[in-house]
Amino acid sequence: MTRKQLEESAAYLRDRGFEEPEIGIVLGTGLGKIVEDIQDQVVAHYNHIPFFPLATVEFHSGKLIYGTLQDKKVVVMQGRFHMYEGYDVLDVTYPIRVMHLLGIKKLFISNAAGAVNLDFRKGDIMLIEDHINLQGGSPLAFKNVAEFGDRFVDMSEPYDPEMRKRIEEIAGKEGISLKKGVYASVMGPQLETRAEYRMLKILGADAVGMSTVPEVIVANHLRLPVVAVSVLTDECDPDNLEPVDIEEILAIAGKTEPKMIKLFKELIKTL
Ligand code: HPA
Repeated sequence: MTRKQLEESAAYLRDRGFEEPEIGIVLGTGLGKIVEDIQDQVVAHYNHIPFFPLATVEFHSGKLIYGTLQDKKVVVMQGRFHMYEGYDVLDVTYPIRVMHLLGIKKLFISNAAGAVNLDFRKGDIMLIEDHINLQGGSPLAFKNVAEFGDRFVDMSEPYDPEMRKRIEEIAGKEGISLKKGVYASVMGPQLETRAEYRMLKILGADAVGMSTVPEVIVANHLRLPVVAVSVLTDECDPDNLEPVDIEEILAIAGKTEPKMIKLFKELIKTL
């Protein structure tokens, strides 16, 4: 990854009309419907954007969508790159740097995650307050990182407190029950064993998933205020563990998505 490559990616998008987006949004697995609310859309397929990570076959649908949401210019990643697909951590976070170059001032992230905290239920939404990086790598561990910003990036408050507060207020007003907690990111793609769920609980995780943390680290590197929510799709109870059912995970994500859309749309209104 070089600055020149990032600039070429951004220039390609600007030429197609991605002009001065204010907000970037990353949509998690099974969470694509907010796109239907975006007006005056311009779409760029990941495969066509210079220097974007080369998409895998199953990932042909990945695209960046630019348009207007609640009277604000947004750029939305429909589909993200995961380490479990074989991408490295620089690939996974490349689009965040491109959206930043395009000019976004805030970043919203969503994901599907398992509930490690057994007070939480599938279908709940969890506002991420902090995280534990268990993916075994950092998107800042590369030779020329100093050209892009600090190397020893502060992570004492990785999720923007002001936007978090606003999301909590919105949830209260809209009657959305909002959980809060710590998200642990694992590499995947296999789900966790019972022993691993017990470990995650001991470590202090409330939810577990396979994304988000690299993107949040890069947002902090860029000093880009970021918030993230998990849509909890399964309950990770080691003593009553059921075999994973991806269809069910997707169905729960879809059913829960309207609450997430509400939170994001109302948050945009406050910006
Ligand atoms: N573990 C890891 N990732 C997940 C899970 C889980 O239980 N559910 C949804 N994404």
